Amino acid sequence: MELKLWLSFLMVCGIPEVQSASNQWLIKVPSNIPALQGSCVVIPCVYTYPKTKKILNRWVGFWKRGEMIVSTNLPKIKLTQEFRKRTKLMGNLRSGNCTMRISSVRTTDVGPFYLRIEIPQHKSFTFSTNTVTIDVSKTPEPPTMSLDVLDKVKATCTVSHTCPTSPPRFYWSRSGKQKMRSKRLNDFMWTTESTLMFVPLPSDFNQPLNCTVVYSGKKSAQSSMILFR
Ligand SMILES: *[C@@H]1O[C@H](CO)[C@@H](O)[C@H](O)[C@H]1NC(C)=O
Ligand SMILES: *[C@@H]1O[C@H](CO)[C@@H](O)[C@H](O)[C@H]1NC(C)=O
Repeated sequence: MELKLWLSFLMVCGIPEVQSASNQWLIKVPSNIPALQGSCVVIPCVYTYPKTKKILNRWVGFWKRGEMIVSTNLPKIKLTQEFRKRTKLMGNLRSGNCTMRISSVRTTDVGPFYLRIEIPQHKSFTFSTNTVTIDVSKTPEPPTMSLDVLDKVKATCTVSHTCPTSPPRFYWSRSGKQKMRSKRLNDFMWTTESTLMFVPLPSDFNQPLNCTVVYSGKKSAQSSMILFR
């Protein structure tokens, strides 16, 4: 706790960064990331820059495709119509986070995308060999469903996705007590799971129980299981 406060104090005061200073320009981004058309995709990204004793106070980032700027933290840059209002450089560049989000994903958003960093008091660098391509799918996979029937029915419906900022919503064909949770699977994949609990009535048996998942951007998919006694 105390160390954390001290570190944020250092950051506020613009003393050379501790975390993101290494001896070289390095980046960690996925080379390929799946996304669903219409939904969003969060591209995780961390980078380091060569150490310096200079006092730095500006970090400018550009995500690019070819010569085109896709996203930047420079507010005065006007993006092309294609990406305007759809991209966000979410990461804090000062602490080495270059995470970017693309919303309302289009089938043309394949990339390759790459990052350029400019530190005016220090150096600039283009990570042109560490590109990110996006695999845009048009139809979501049906959710994975499981049933646990004892005194109560516990039904689970799970999907994986790359849009943690707007996770999918779940709709069940029967009422019950619902719970939802998301967790990170790896650098870029997340799973969101919905569970439904209910005490079954005789009329519930030999009937399908449906789980519909609706992604941000409105695409949906359904799975169904029959409730056997
Ligand atoms: C980078 O920033 C994003 C968006 O704010 C955040 O969700 C993520 O946890 C950060 N990553 C690291 C490694 O700090
Ligand atoms: C559940 O799905 C099946 C087919 O997948 C459909 O025939 C049925 O009407 C659905 N039931 C409800 C209650 O939505």
